[in-house]
Amino acid sequence: MSGTILILGACGQIGTELTLALREKYGNEHVVASDIRRSDLPELQNGPFEILDASDASAMRAVCEKYQVHTLYHLVAMLSATGEKFPMKAWDLNMQSLLHALELAREGVIQKIFWPSSIAVFGPTTPKENTPQQTIMEPSTVYGISKLAGERWCEYYFKKYGVDVRSIRYPGLISWKSQPGGGTTDYAVEIYYKAIEEGRYTAFLSEYRALPMMYMDDAIRATIELTEAPAEKVKVRSSYNLAGISFDPVTIAASVAKYVDGFTMDCVPDFREEIAASWPASIDDSKAQEDWNWTPKYDLDSMTQAMLENLKVKLGK
Ligand code: SER
Repeated sequence: MSGTILILGACGQIGTELTLALREKYGNEHVVASDIRRSDLPELQNGPFEILDASDASAMRAVCEKYQVHTLYHLVAMLSATGEKFPMKAWDLNMQSLLHALELAREGVIQKIFWPSSIAVFGPTTPKENTPQQTIMEPSTVYGISKLAGERWCEYYFKKYGVDVRSIRYPGLISWKSQPGGGTTDYAVEIYYKAIEEGRYTAFLSEYRALPMMYMDDAIRATIELTEAPAEKVKVRSSYNLAGISFDPVTIAASVAKYVDGFTMDCVPDFREEIAASWPASIDDSKAQEDWNWTPKYDLDSMTQAMLENLKVKLGK
């Protein structure tokens, strides 16, 4: 590949791990990390880093030109729970940053974009189980509205201008290297920290509120596989459904209790319960399987084991 890779939002939950994975694959110098502020994460110190506000079009253009960026991974967004507190900020950040990237691709400054959508594009009127690729989409959060609008823009730029943009509707992502921030699915990460630190956890969703989730290793692999798939295989240019593991708080707590003696959980739902209630419980990702051979590797127990093992080392327990 000629040109470099640029990651927007490299200090975030997905950005950190994607930067590491791509640097390992292509060499540190070929992967430029960027975020609105410098990170002290030791993992990101091994290659180029730019401070970049993704809502600033000329700053984004300058970095793309400076490094002759070929592929841009756009991982900047305000997530669902924070977005409900700051609706206009969420809308502005989520939309402007995407449109800047699409414009750069339309002008030929960059050649390819990966941009994540989310299960949040679905809403209360969407079929809940095995939610199809194409179905009713009436999201009820600002985050979901911005992601659905973003999907439409991606397909528009592909059809109208031939922009090579690729996207996945991520489920809730579970990781140990860096923490999520401001999402409704974050409880499924917190539970592992609390299990190790306190042996107990209070979830902010109700007991049987199932949501689609995925271990970060699978999500990173999916992201790179889709972004690198031959263009003719990428038939969906809005965003692909992607499924990993579907579970509710009671089920993940039972998995944790298998490996942490005496672990207990209770549930005290807050405003995030209503957001979760509007989302699917499980996802049909047969289109991703068909088009670019997607298949997840982790199930709930293998994810629990990986999370606990890695977090124990990280937390020095
Ligand atoms: N994990 C996200 C959230 O909870 C969903 O994409 O907001």
